[in-house]
Parts: sequence; C-alpha cells; structure tokens
Amino acid sequence: MSVKRIAPSILAADFANLQRDIELVNDSDADWFHIDIMDGVFVPNISFGMPVLKAITTHAKKTIDVHLMIVDPDRYIKTFAELGSDNLTVHYEACTHLHRTVQAIKAEGMKAGVALNPHTPIASLEDIISDLDLVCLMSVNPGFGGQSFIENTYSKVKQLKSLITAKGASTLIEIDGGVTDKNVKQLVDAGADVLVAGSFVFRSENPQATVSHLRTLANS
Ligand code: DX5
Ligand code: ZN
Repeated sequence: MSVKRIAPSILAADFANLQRDIELVNDSDADWFHIDIMDGVFVPNISFGMPVLKAITTHAKKTIDVHLMIVDPDRYIKTFAELGSDNLTVHYEACTHLHRTVQAIKAEGMKAGVALNPHTPIASLEDIISDLDLVCLMSVNPGFGGQSFIENTYSKVKQLKSLITAKGASTLIEIDGGVTDKNVKQLVDAGADVLVAGSFVFRSENPQATVSHLRTLANS
C-alpha cells in the first residue's frame, strides 16, 4: 500500500509567528503544506492571499498544496503557479467549465485537484476523474478551521475509491476538515491517501509529535 500523507493546514498556524510555524512543519514528519485561500464570496470567510502565500513558499520545503475556495479560479491559475504551488485544487461548485480549468492547471505544470463540498455527490466526478491528480473531500463545510467532522464522509471516501478503481485512475483522495487521531485510521481504511489537519496539529501541545502520531496511525 502507498504511503499515506499528512498535510498540516497553515490556516491554523500562528500568523504572528508564521516563519516559526513553517519551519516547524519543515522539521516534522509532515508530507505537504495545505494552504487555504478563501475569498469571502465562495465561502463566508477571507483567509489570506498572494503576498502571504509568497512568504510561505519562500520558507516551505515540502509540497505546496493549495486549496482555492474562491469563485472563478481560472483568473489566478498562472499566478498560483508562479507563486510556487505544486498542487492546485479548485471547487467543483465554483467551476462552470471544470474540464477546461483542470487542463489549464496542468498546462501550468501543477497537479490538478477538485474539491467537493459535503453535499456534492461523488457521481458528479464520473466524467472527469481520470483527468484528476487529486480529489479533496470536504469533511466540513468549507470556510473555517476547527469544525466537527461530518460522519457521512466515510461513505463518500468508499464511493470515490470505487470510482477511481473502476476507471483505473491514480487519483489521490484527500480529506479536509475535522481530522483527528479519532478518525484518521477509519478514513485510511476507507481509501484516503492524504489527511489535512489544522487545529488538531497547531492547537496541540507538541505539533510535531502530533503530526508523527497522525502519520503513524495513517500508515499502521
Ligand atoms: C476549511 C479548510 C481546511 C481547514 C481544516 O475550509 O479547507 O483546510 O483548515 O481545519 P481543521 O483541521 O481545523 O478542521
Ligand atoms: Zn483546505
């Protein structure tokens, strides 16, 4: 079985000590940096934008996994590539011409991801799954860190895994929202490959030990 990855979400970092928290992730067992960009339109919150992402990528030494919670993301695909994004994930619900958006992300040399809100059926991806490097299943309603995990996610992970297998695709399944040591193992058993964790990591007493703990559970 392939190695399961942990992606700490920088949304939960201490922005007054951003470099310190980035170095903390660099020096941990984490695999990716998960970066949440919110526009206050697609989601009812604004996180941060390009200058902050630039500051993050200047110091970050691991895969930069950018999750766009913005309307009309096509406007900024090139900019996110220039800022050092390795993965660029857009929301299914925010893209009228999703196939075109996915091709545009790949044309800029990035891995293409699509995120699904908790209410969006897996079947919506049937005709595009083979084009996707990553599907991000939202296990909370996007917009805020620190929310409770939605239990229906387990069933969605299983459905998505079946779809990926049926199509012979190599798409990674990422879970985002409310991930803790209580659900990681069950998520991986259902088919998850990448676990995003924000508050559970950064609000713990020892974030690096928490990352190692999650990673060990995910790969047990
Ligand atoms: C929510 C974001 C998540 C968030 C996860 O809209 O997409 O990435 O940072 O935070 P936790 O792990 O605290 O639920
Ligand atoms: Zn996210």
